[in-house]
Amino acid sequence: MKTNKFLGRDWIDAELDYSREEWETFIDVGLELKRRWAMGEDHSHLLKGKTLFTMFFNQSLRTRSTFAAGIQQLGGFLVDLEPSKTYTPARKGYEIPYKTERICDVAQMLDRVGEAMAIRMYGEPAQWIYGFANATIKEFAYYMENPVINMECDMYHPTQALADMITVKEKFGRFKKVKFVMSWAYSGSTHKPFAVPQSLVLAPTKMGMDVVFARPKGFELDPAVIEHCKKFAKETGGSFEETDDMDAAFENADVVYPKCWGAMDYFAQVDKKGKIVKKENLDGMKKLFDKNKDWICDAKKMKLIKPSGIYMHCLPADRDMEVTDEVIDGPQSVVFDEAENRLHAHKAIMALVMGGRL
Ligand code: CP
Repeated sequence: MKTNKFLGRDWIDAELDYSREEWETFIDVGLELKRRWAMGEDHSHLLKGKTLFTMFFNQSLRTRSTFAAGIQQLGGFLVDLEPSKTYTPARKGYEIPYKTERICDVAQMLDRVGEAMAIRMYGEPAQWIYGFANATIKEFAYYMENPVINMECDMYHPTQALADMITVKEKFGRFKKVKFVMSWAYSGSTHKPFAVPQSLVLAPTKMGMDVVFARPKGFELDPAVIEHCKKFAKETGGSFEETDDMDAAFENADVVYPKCWGAMDYFAQVDKKGKIVKKENLDGMKKLFDKNKDWICDAKKMKLIKPSGIYMHCLPADRDMEVTDEVIDGPQSVVFDEAENRLHAHKAIMALVMGGRL
């Protein structure tokens, strides 16, 4: 009989798959591990001798470094499998002989020799087809007994969301009556996934905050995500609103999270069988971006939020586009607290799903 209800569970669509109470547990465990780490208390027994495999199909600084440091502090090991140096895992129909290996074979092999698998995939390796990367990670999970952790796909970035919820809890001591604004911001790069904004409207509504989602027309999120947010807000007694007015959204906010993502309509679209039915239109997307260059988080916008309010960003930030130096380097910015909390969040996830007993 399983005595630990977290043991062996995947962390893929975590905002949807774990209850609010379970999120509270991850937050509490993250904070407890942060306390132990700060006090120099050894906690390397928690995952002693256990192995996490990571596979990054995209670049990463924060996620890569904090998973590596985190598992070491818990007594385990990380083996980073660079997709280009293995036989790149591929779904059926996307294989190239002796260059790729079908995911079912990769997953079952790794399941025999480690305790968990963590994957990052979005964008180019998933051909910018919305949902392809999420489905790829779920295919690993289908063939593995061990837990699979989503380190960012094309739909969600739940490890980031957990670190950010820990940060909000530290700054405000509560979630209720905290006005949290997830806002689009301009960038010179149009190739940006929906993972952060989608996770950062789902998690705060799940935790019961008053969430405002601000974006120019054309930068809407997956309608299914918005429906979940409305449902979570109803369940928790929080609220969820959507607006195309950045200034109005910032008014009296406790938290602002301005960040760029792409425009869904301009990415390639596929039918149910995965056949491309509409090609991506990057020129069209660039024109839409350039119409909205004023969506920048600057000192003027920060004057609209509460004096006690905070500026958040998952990093890397596009300085002078998404945000001015004055804001990101200013006293209301908590970006390095968030980045540090990736370490504590990832340790909480690993400790709970890989079988540590606190
Ligand atoms: N925020 C985040 O996921 O950072 P990295 O891309 O550096 O991992």
